[in-house]
Amino acid sequence: MNIASKQPVQNARETLAVLMGSACVIPVLTIERLEDAVPLAKALVAGGVRVLEVTLRTPVAIEAATAIMAEVPEATVGIGTILNADDLARAEALGAKFGISPGATPDLLKAAAASGLPFAPGIATASELMQALAYGFNLVKFFPAEQSGGIKALRALAGPFPDARFCPTGGIGETNAASWLGEPNVVAVGGSWLCPAADIRAGNWAGITAICNRTMKSLKPA
Ligand code: 3PG
Repeated sequence: MNIASKQPVQNARETLAVLMGSACVIPVLTIERLEDAVPLAKALVAGGVRVLEVTLRTPVAIEAATAIMAEVPEATVGIGTILNADDLARAEALGAKFGISPGATPDLLKAAAASGLPFAPGIATASELMQALAYGFNLVKFFPAEQSGGIKALRALAGPFPDARFCPTGGIGETNAASWLGEPNVVAVGGSWLCPAADIRAGNWAGITAICNRTMKSLKPA
């Protein structure tokens, strides 16, 4: 069987492309205290940022994502830092709208292809991208984007892989988000700059909304 032609992957990848394309920017959320989850999500939504990646990097991540889904209906919640099939199953079980991984192991790709959850594996090299494509994932996270060669590296990958689409993440911020989004094969960009750890710790929700507003304005000038 041609694994790239499996129907669930086909539908899921279209869903993911629409979702990411409409978002433009996807904040990478690391939530340390459960009580920060809802005010943080509300601050992001208030700044026009509605597609949120809650990373599985803290013990409260799953509860935090669940709370946001229950209390901030304007937000579209996905799960990030999916490292294996168990993480993927947890994301699906809580009703995440999408999943993102920093990498692409064969086991994870296989599980994701079977699950039907809109999923972006992470790639940094041509071989990793080939592996993701073989499982039907043509929209991938380019990670770590700046550290892996930046826009020049992405352009180089566009040559042999004209059908691949990317969500670059890693080292992206207010000053370079627009340049990345100007690339024809970039669907959205991700990063933590929209929700700095210091602002979350300080409960500076207005500051986070302000970063979102500035970023969104810089991407879509009036
Ligand atoms: C990620 O997992 O996508 C990165 O940790 C985000 O990278 P950044 O902190 O440089 O935005």
